[in-house]
Amino acid sequence: MSLPSVFICIILLISVPVLSGINVEHRPTVGVIRWDAWNLFNNQYDPISYYLHRALTPEEFHFRIPFYGSVHSPTNISFNGDIQNVMDQEVLYAKHAGIDYWAFDTYCTFGSNCTTNNTYCTQYYKQTSNQYCPRNPAYGLDLYLSSPYKSLVNFTLILLGSSPCDVTFQQQYIDLMKQPQFQTVLGGRPLLYLFQFDNAEADICGGGWSGSGQVFQKFRQLAISQGLQNPYMVLMDFDVATVQSHASMLEFDAISTYALPGGTNEGTPFVELLHSAQQWWQSAHQIGTKMVPIVPTGWDPRPRAENPVPWVDEGPQHYFQPTVEELQTLIRNGINFTCTYNQTAEAQTIIIYAWNECSETSGSLIPSLGNGTLYVDALSKVLPMHC
Ligand SMILES: *[C@@H]1O[C@H](CO)[C@@H](O)[C@H](O)[C@H]1NC(C)=O
Ligand SMILES: *[C@@H]1O[C@H](CO)[C@@H](O)[C@H](O)[C@H]1NC(C)=O
Ligand SMILES: *[C@@H]1O[C@H](CO)[C@@H](O)[C@H](O)[C@H]1NC(C)=O
Ligand SMILES: *[C@@H]1O[C@H](CO)[C@@H](O)[C@H](O)[C@H]1NC(C)=O
Ligand SMILES: *[C@@H]1O[C@H](CO)[C@@H](O)[C@H](O)[C@H]1NC(C)=O
Ligand SMILES: *[C@@H]1O[C@H](CO)[C@@H](O)[C@H](O)[C@H]1NC(C)=O
Ligand SMILES: *[C@@H]1O[C@H](CO)[C@@H](O)[C@H](O)[C@H]1NC(C)=O
Repeated sequence: MSLPSVFICIILLISVPVLSGINVEHRPTVGVIRWDAWNLFNNQYDPISYYLHRALTPEEFHFRIPFYGSVHSPTNISFNGDIQNVMDQEVLYAKHAGIDYWAFDTYCTFGSNCTTNNTYCTQYYKQTSNQYCPRNPAYGLDLYLSSPYKSLVNFTLILLGSSPCDVTFQQQYIDLMKQPQFQTVLGGRPLLYLFQFDNAEADICGGGWSGSGQVFQKFRQLAISQGLQNPYMVLMDFDVATVQSHASMLEFDAISTYALPGGTNEGTPFVELLHSAQQWWQSAHQIGTKMVPIVPTGWDPRPRAENPVPWVDEGPQHYFQPTVEELQTLIRNGINFTCTYNQTAEAQTIIIYAWNECSETSGSLIPSLGNGTLYVDALSKVLPMHC
């Protein structure tokens, strides 16, 4: 061993205990929900993007349009997120913000006029979510996977409805779970979320809740048999007691929710949304369930109240947009809860709502025409945050 390498060894021996002493390793991961309906299909707005475009057309909502959109006149806007350069830029913004992973909403792909050959997908657009039948819902995930920057931000999936019970789809998720960018928790367990899974979905999936539990057990076995660790599966739903009961019947690992709707017609101060989130975390903690804290950056579906979308009925009740300080306080509180209640939040991750739900919240993190990079800059000043 030459003299310089001896010195390097000594430096390493000294610095490793010092680093672990200040707990540099321990850092909860930060995920953000992505809803990709900003695309064209055959040069026209994809059926879901069509409604989104309509909802954001009134002038008072133009400020919410993502950075890649355009305002041509007070009544004429356009956008198309299905472009590689756009996604590359989004990855760089997310990296700048300090985000660890995106959670991609994962929908069935439909033919024209909501055609599909899959009974689970049929159930989805007829029952789970009226007329939600996009032609190309995976464009965001596909562009992310083909981005030269993908190693900067990880990803996971938010599975939706009953279609995750289909073995063909399950194999597609497993193939994605094998990617090095797939987010894991607890030392290598692939992280997966499931949302919009209620009684009707349990019935078609496995003839009820316990049958569905068996379907998901088989899915776990399929993943393990292909060399993955046991997936860490998180069920999302709005009511803590309900989702806890459903998650336990499905033998899921933890609960969370997608968003926390609320507010008033006149607008409610953002701090009330923070309190609502804290109540959600505390109730989950108190009933003794494992939980991934939901960290909601807003709720304001007024564009959809004015120009309704067929798949969900949302009113004008809303919270005010968070200020930079309010957003930072929210994130700090979510991570602090995760650190403090590390038995409840065992996966040591939080899930933020949302990256680009711009028709449902003015608190979307994606840079926008009206607020620029305000929110990603705000996050970049608090993240990464250690325990
Ligand atoms: C909106 O503006 C674009 C770009 O100027 C233009 O091509 C399009 O025809 C306009 N649409 C309407 C409905 O005016
Ligand atoms: C879709 O529905 C419309 C209206 O019902 C109909 O005119 C059209 O032919 C249908 N297209 C296909 C491909 O089935
Ligand atoms: C359904 O199956 C038929 C026959 O296999 C095929 O031609 C059609 O493209 C499929 N439709 C969809 C939406 O997958
Ligand atoms: C992505 O996840 C892998 C596996 O969990 C991890 O090793 C890597 O550090 C993560 N990358 C980022 C950018 O968080
Ligand atoms: C973190 O949470 C704990 C327990 O709720 C609380 O005592 C502490 O003040 C919080 N710290 C910060 C920085 O918010
Ligand atoms: C949870 O936090 C406590 C207090 O900081 C710490 O002693 C313990 O090691 C943590 N447990 C885990 C599993 O991280
Ligand atoms: C975002 O932009 C809108 C429109 O310019 C403005 O009214 C609002 O105050 C901005 N939000 C923040 C948090 O600065």
